[in-house]
Amino acid sequence: MGDSSGRLDELMGVSYELRRIAGQMRKAVLRFRIGGAWREQGGTWARNYPDYESYLAHQRTKLDAMRASSLQSHDARFFHALRVRLSLLPFSLRGRSVLCLAARQGSEVRAFIDAGAFAIGIDLNPGRENRYVVTGDFHALQFATGSVEIVYTNSLDHSFDFDRSVGEVLRVLSDDGYFIVEAGRGVEAGDEPGFYESFGWASPDVLLDAIAERGFILENRSGLDVPWRGVQFVLRKATPIPDDNGVKRLGARVPSAAQ
Ligand SMILES: C[S@@+](CC[C@H](N)C(=O)[O-])C[C@H]1O[C@@H](n2cnc3c(N)ncnc32)[C@H](O)[C@@H]1O
Repeated sequence: MGDSSGRLDELMGVSYELRRIAGQMRKAVLRFRIGGAWREQGGTWARNYPDYESYLAHQRTKLDAMRASSLQSHDARFFHALRVRLSLLPFSLRGRSVLCLAARQGSEVRAFIDAGAFAIGIDLNPGRENRYVVTGDFHALQFATGSVEIVYTNSLDHSFDFDRSVGEVLRVLSDDGYFIVEAGRGVEAGDEPGFYESFGWASPDVLLDAIAERGFILENRSGLDVPWRGVQFVLRKATPIPDDNGVKRLGARVPSAAQ
């Protein structure tokens, strides 16, 4: 019995390693296929993909190319750090509905559940038998309009079309819903986009303006160090208010506290 389970562990280890090596080979082919060209617009950068299929194929490879040990250590560090950050939010998460975008193995989903929320994640590649994350694309969410109270993401740098990504968040959020964004410090601070990133920003302020102008009001801003150095923005969906002429305008942005 001991011998056969040891052999099984060995075979599973070999099959995992083969999958990882295949993932690395796909990465090399993709590197050639997608090239390294970016286009800039107003302090943000988007990777030039030949087409949407190439973007999807590129983004799906990351999980398969990562080592189990680095996934596990990232999961533990991120889960614990986010749990602390969520406990400092200016509102309670107990009983709130939360959607986590690009949640991979679900560390952030478990952190929200730990804080008392009803949470689920979506990812292009949630891996196998994931209890916390289902397959989905944040450019075309499978959820109903106005159906969720909080959307969380730390992966806006994986957008193909930033406008569509933020537009989908706006659509699925209920009135006065919150959008919690965690993001790196940007190019000006030396955080250049890596191989898997498809979108970048000059600084957190540039990113904040790009989100806010699409219909959000900043409520809270703080710094973070884990899993990388960056910022957390807590934004509220701006409810359009009709003026005397019946024209709907969005509320003004609340001035941000210095980070
Ligand atoms: C840097 S990982 C972050 C994973 C997770 N949020 C975490 O911090 O552990 C980026 C993730 O974004 C996912 N992703 C990229 N583009 C996506 C899209 N359009 N829709 C959903 N997930 C996407 C990738 O599959 C990958 O799991």
